[in-house]
Amino acid sequence: MRPIRKLAKGAAAGDNEGIEGLPRRFDGRPLVSSDPNPDLLSVGFRDVDATASDKILRCLGTLEKMEAVRSYKARVLDHLELERKSSALDVACGLGDDVAALKARCARAVGVDRSAMLLDLAEQRHPDCEFGLADASALPFPDGTFDAVRVDRSLQHIDQPVRVVREMARVAVRGGVVLCAEPDWGTFLLGGPHSDVTERIERDWIRSFRNPWIGRELASLLEQSGVGDVQWEAHWLPTQGFAETDILFEVAATVDRIADEVPEARSWLDGYRKGKPMPAS
Ligand SMILES: C[S@@+](CC[C@H](N)C(=O)[O-])C[C@H]1O[C@@H](n2cnc3c(N)ncnc32)[C@H](O)[C@@H]1O
Repeated sequence: MRPIRKLAKGAAAGDNEGIEGLPRRFDGRPLVSSDPNPDLLSVGFRDVDATASDKILRCLGTLEKMEAVRSYKARVLDHLELERKSSALDVACGLGDDVAALKARCARAVGVDRSAMLLDLAEQRHPDCEFGLADASALPFPDGTFDAVRVDRSLQHIDQPVRVVREMARVAVRGGVVLCAEPDWGTFLLGGPHSDVTERIERDWIRSFRNPWIGRELASLLEQSGVGDVQWEAHWLPTQGFAETDILFEVAATVDRIADEVPEARSWLDGYRKGKPMPAS
């Protein structure tokens, strides 16, 4: 059914506003890098089609295999209260696996995303589902189209997430379910002993997201969007070992990015690579 509508040029553009002008700390050095790397995943997910696809696909492929991810996605599915005759929308659906999970439980499942590359793959993986190219902040559906509307790990990347949640509420039927599953990067932690360098690396990664505290903002966004009876729960997403951690959280790239300002970050990385165990979350 693609395209539902053409994207306006630069619909979700924007680069790390708000990073400049942060207070200086860390021995007088900046708290976070003032020169954010546009190749980081935290920036790349804003516009996947302009980003190296191997990185994006490696990240999504790693996440889908993680037990903790499968577990929270199963919880999300249960909370949607789908019946056989229901219809459901996944906003910013990526590779479409969650749309297929919706389709297994209800009559109509639709996924929209702003990446044509991901939608092509989604259609190949799940030919029985409907996919469309659309910006999450302007959903191309009439009011009250879907019984359930979900978004997952995407509001963190989108400018003005309140517009997206309002759109989700608009296209949901009265009494339907609107569900947002997002990280809160304020709770991000790298394993190992406490040190200034660890804190600096964590902070640099956190600050590279457009909406790093979106998790704690969700209840308020839902209320502002007219969604009543807001409930929430928290999930823990630990990684195991350096390879998995680095694919998801780009520790080595973050160290590269700050190494001029914090040269000791390189030896920190050597130690972190060798450390056992080295969870991150
Ligand atoms: C981290 S991925 C999550 C994908 C999927 N929801 C999942 O859980 O695997 C973020 C997704 O948001 C999409 N995205 C980012 N900005 C968007 C926007 N403004 N409108 C629609 N999709 C957007 C990206 O293309 C990408 O598919």
